[in-house]
Amino acid sequence: MRQSTTKGAILIATGPWDPAPWAAAVRAVEPDRPVFVWPDLPDPAAIRYALVWGPPEGLLASLPNLAAIFSLGAGVDHLVFQEGLPEVPIVRVVSSDLTRRMTEWVTLQVLTHHRQALAYARQQAARTWKELAQPQAADVRVGIMGMGVLGRDTAQVLVRLGFRVAGWSRRPTTVAGVEAFGGTDGLDPFLARTDILVCLLPLTAETRGILAMPLFAKLARDGALGGPVIINAGRGGLQVEADIVMALADGVLAGASLDVFEEEPLPAASPLWAAPNVVITPHAAAVSAPKELVPLMREQMAAYEAGRPFTNVVDRAAMY
Ligand SMILES: NC(=O)c1ccc[n+]([C@@H]2O[C@H](COP(=O)([O-])OP(=O)(O)OC[C@H]3O[C@@H](n4cnc5c(N)ncnc54)[C@H](OP(=O)(O)O)[C@@H]3O)[C@@H](O)[C@H]2O)c1
Repeated sequence: MRQSTTKGAILIATGPWDPAPWAAAVRAVEPDRPVFVWPDLPDPAAIRYALVWGPPEGLLASLPNLAAIFSLGAGVDHLVFQEGLPEVPIVRVVSSDLTRRMTEWVTLQVLTHHRQALAYARQQAARTWKELAQPQAADVRVGIMGMGVLGRDTAQVLVRLGFRVAGWSRRPTTVAGVEAFGGTDGLDPFLARTDILVCLLPLTAETRGILAMPLFAKLARDGALGGPVIINAGRGGLQVEADIVMALADGVLAGASLDVFEEEPLPAASPLWAAPNVVITPHAAAVSAPKELVPLMREQMAAYEAGRPFTNVVDRAAMY
């Protein structure tokens, strides 16, 4: 027998993250709703909503009355590569808080490379007073792969700073002041006009390993920064780290900023830690903040229980 849709229980399963702030945020906005934190699951049939990050394989399929899966992050690769996922909507995070955090991180990295912050830090450590030649933002071509919620917001800020910005997505995206490229045919011309490549793609079967030597070799080599730079905050699975290390050593790339890695935490033995002109952050570009995101999930549950459809639902065939 199917449960009533009202006040169904919530299951929280946060994988490697601390579940306590998520449970506290849910209980704060939903005091009347039963909330369970995996592995505490006395009655799987009571669960209507699962709020998850990297749930154990098979957990979601064991919930017979599940109405929706809420991903605790914007990316859903932690779900869509799982076998046997139940056929219920997967709702992903779209929030102004997360978007602003990502725009801050990408802008910081673009400016770090554009304004030669790493070279100045090396000079400071050597007590060297030397002004470096500084191109204008208008001389630097930024290309953003992935013009979704995050890519579009980042593009607008970079346009405002005066960079020449282009975006590449499956379907060309219209953003004022941004040159649009789309699909497989659009990739090479997009790369050929790009000095700083920003990757905000989701990890899917199509995008896995896209940031590799053949792509790096197609980036512009006549830019004002003396060589192309890559910035990846999408997912580690998008990049081939051995190729990044080789490209930095051979001068195919002049620098990189990486927030995500094939293996996280990045192993201490990775040559990326000591690679030249590289910024490494520990998957910290845009954290999911429970107190910002849980109220949005609650609104979605309330809308669903009032008979309206979920929004920000993942296209399972496209995997994002
Ligand atoms: N490092 C962090 O802290 C952090 C935090 C949050 C998110 N992220 C990552 O950021 C990613 C993007 O988030 P979002 O909210 O902007 O996602 P989104 O709104 O779903 O946008 C995804 C974009 O990628 C494009 N795309 C997907 N597959 C493609 C392909 N095969 N070829 C070309 N373009 C393709 C889409 O094209 P269309 O526009 O044509 O659909 C869309 O423009 C997430 O999936 C996650 O992995 C990282």
